[in-house]
Amino acid sequence: MRKLTMMTAAAALMAASTSVKAEDVEVLHWWTSGGEAAALNVLKEDLEGQGIGWQDMPVAGGGGSQAMTVLRARVTSGNPPTAVQMLGFDILDWAKEGALADLNIQAGLEGWDEVVPEALQQFAKHDGKWVSAPVNVHSTNWVWANKAVLDELGIAVPTNWDEFVAALEKVKASGKTAIAHGGQPWQDATVFDAVAMSTGGPDFYKKAFIELDEETLGSDTMKETFDRMGVIRSYVDDNFSGRDWNLATAMVINGDAAFQMMGDWAKGEFLNAGKKPDADFLCFRFPGTQDQVTFNADQFAMFAQGKEVGKEQAALATAILSPSFQSAFNVVKGSVPARTDVSNEAFDACGKKGMADLKAAADSGNLYGSMAHGHANPAAIKNAMYDVITAHFNGEYDSATAVDELVTAVQINK
Ligand code: GAL
Repeated sequence: MRKLTMMTAAAALMAASTSVKAEDVEVLHWWTSGGEAAALNVLKEDLEGQGIGWQDMPVAGGGGSQAMTVLRARVTSGNPPTAVQMLGFDILDWAKEGALADLNIQAGLEGWDEVVPEALQQFAKHDGKWVSAPVNVHSTNWVWANKAVLDELGIAVPTNWDEFVAALEKVKASGKTAIAHGGQPWQDATVFDAVAMSTGGPDFYKKAFIELDEETLGSDTMKETFDRMGVIRSYVDDNFSGRDWNLATAMVINGDAAFQMMGDWAKGEFLNAGKKPDADFLCFRFPGTQDQVTFNADQFAMFAQGKEVGKEQAALATAILSPSFQSAFNVVKGSVPARTDVSNEAFDACGKKGMADLKAAADSGNLYGSMAHGHANPAAIKNAMYDVITAHFNGEYDSATAVDELVTAVQINK
């Protein structure tokens, strides 16, 4: 797996020219970190148990932007992979192009309509047809902390912004890194998701990132959000630029840093390193977002290869939606099931909290698609937002300029 992690997008594209047998599924995905690979193995083994071969097509790069670039190139050259990991609006974009296989037969036979949460169905169906198989629900407004570091410094779990800043200050004063962060646009945006939700609350988040309301995008609350991003920036270490997210997680695992703001795929890294929730690490919602969940769901879309969905594609979709797989996979991945009828028994404390939070947020109108992970607006707008957030994080824009640029970015790409 290590070798594959190193694979560049171009190398992955070349590797794809090796032939794929009809009975194999060729799966394009970006799950190349230790925890992600361990979760993916659960799926590979499930399929191999059914006699279906797995052609691996990993494209490293958290959040999947590079994978989407490779996908576009593969489709353009007339050679799409049979199954592709995808997020939110990307699925809908491909469905609109008529590129995805219709999974309605599997969905009907297996009752997907009844068990997949409504929030996910919005991204899994197009024109009344199921076009992808949801594998999980992740959420992005989490903080991961090294428990020993917090105990040693006498830091309690912060519940609001001021307490969080006080905690960060204490860590910095101790000489450790307060926030483990990787300076890549999608990671900056992941932090921004949580900071925006905490600063402005759910209505602000919805108006700005889902409804793309110009007044909200240009508001004082947005400026305050950028100001807080500036505060966060002052607590990351000097080497943050370009660091992969899982290396940032490793800093918390090793006790070099206290906190990481990251989606719950980070838990997969802690587990893969043999760490236990509550004993070695803590998971809590970003201070000020205790009642909210900004979600993203990984799904596998099948690229149409003719009229009918391929036998191996159907088998992959069925395997993904099976309740036992949903439990086994998500326990390892750090996410929670994409079905409402899976028991929480096998899940650890963070997983149980994730499941309870998701249900409570859905019931109380506090569940929103993550902007950073393609569930609030389409890729063109998301990428334009990334550019502004990252330019500000790196000191290219002050907060007032960032607000103006954000408004312009949305106007141009809407
Ligand atoms: C997310 C994806 C997760 C995880 C993460 C980092 O977009 O939903 O499953 O892979 O990127 O790679």
